Amino acid sequence: MSDQRPLLYLSRLLPDPVMAKIRERYRLVEEPGDLSPSPSSLQAGLREAVAAIVTLSERIDGDTLVGASRLRILANYAVGYNNVDLTAAHGRGVIVTNTPDVLTDATADLTWALLLATARRVVEGDALVRAGGWTGWTATQLLGVEVAGRTLGIIGMGRIGQAVAQRAAGFRMRVLYQARRPIPPPLSGTWELRTLSEVLRQADFISIHVPLTDTTRHLIGRAELALMRQTAVLINTARGPIVDEAALVEALQKRTLAGAGLDVYEEEPRIHPRLLVLPQVVLLPHLGSATWSARIQMGMICLQNIEAVLGGRPAPNAVNDSR
Ligand code: GLV
Ligand code: GLV
Repeated sequence: MSDQRPLLYLSRLLPDPVMAKIRERYRLVEEPGDLSPSPSSLQAGLREAVAAIVTLSERIDGDTLVGASRLRILANYAVGYNNVDLTAAHGRGVIVTNTPDVLTDATADLTWALLLATARRVVEGDALVRAGGWTGWTATQLLGVEVAGRTLGIIGMGRIGQAVAQRAAGFRMRVLYQARRPIPPPLSGTWELRTLSEVLRQADFISIHVPLTDTTRHLIGRAELALMRQTAVLINTARGPIVDEAALVEALQKRTLAGAGLDVYEEEPRIHPRLLVLPQVVLLPHLGSATWSARIQMGMICLQNIEAVLGGRPAPNAVNDSR
């Protein structure tokens, strides 16, 4: 009997439990590798498949979808879907889905890891110890800034922004946030809605949690950075292009901004060379959702959406073209 399993295109290897489920239910157009495929191999793969799982590193636009006439669903293995041209996909009748919720805690935790690491110079301390340069405790070594009791500014109060704000309660922080509408705080806290410039002016730590769209590209540029306190720290675990990286480097070099914790960059995996030499910056390789649990659940959600669409049902996590 011929193999009836639907043909799936998968752009990269996913964690083992996800791979096992995929292999059980689908035939793969080709074996994926760890790295992003070339644009031509991506396009060739999408032409064969009825369903695809792609990641944030694959740019999917009208050209990529030329000839993808069998394709019914593109499951983006991420919550952000700025890598997909929704108009082009919808124009071809391809449903696009994302993986919300399951990576909210992982990303909020990583945001705090970056915030604390930047405030308390964790990476510099580790480097000093490993280099054999630690000669013993001193009262003035690697002094950082206090986090508890300070003001946290959150730009974008979606699921991840709210999860970051909830964690601030343990640090007794005042939370100011910028959002399009007020968000009810948990019973134990006060979250204060402010304009973007108020948040930038008043917060000690500023964390970005808006999606990348045409309106949020370079949302934080030279003028916005200039509003921030000289002692402030900027954290970005959302998308690199939301911050004008050249302007950020300039502010850090001139010390009009005290520090930055970055998980995302304008042109990943390229890092602005001057960021690499600034000690007041902590740089991570886009690890926001990188926990076993989140990455496995992200795969399962992609599969649930594919099953729904191939079974003629609505995709639970379809994203609408609302931009
Ligand atoms: C990761 O960056 C995501 O959007 O899931
Ligand atoms: C993602 O889950 C967000 O809405 O921030």
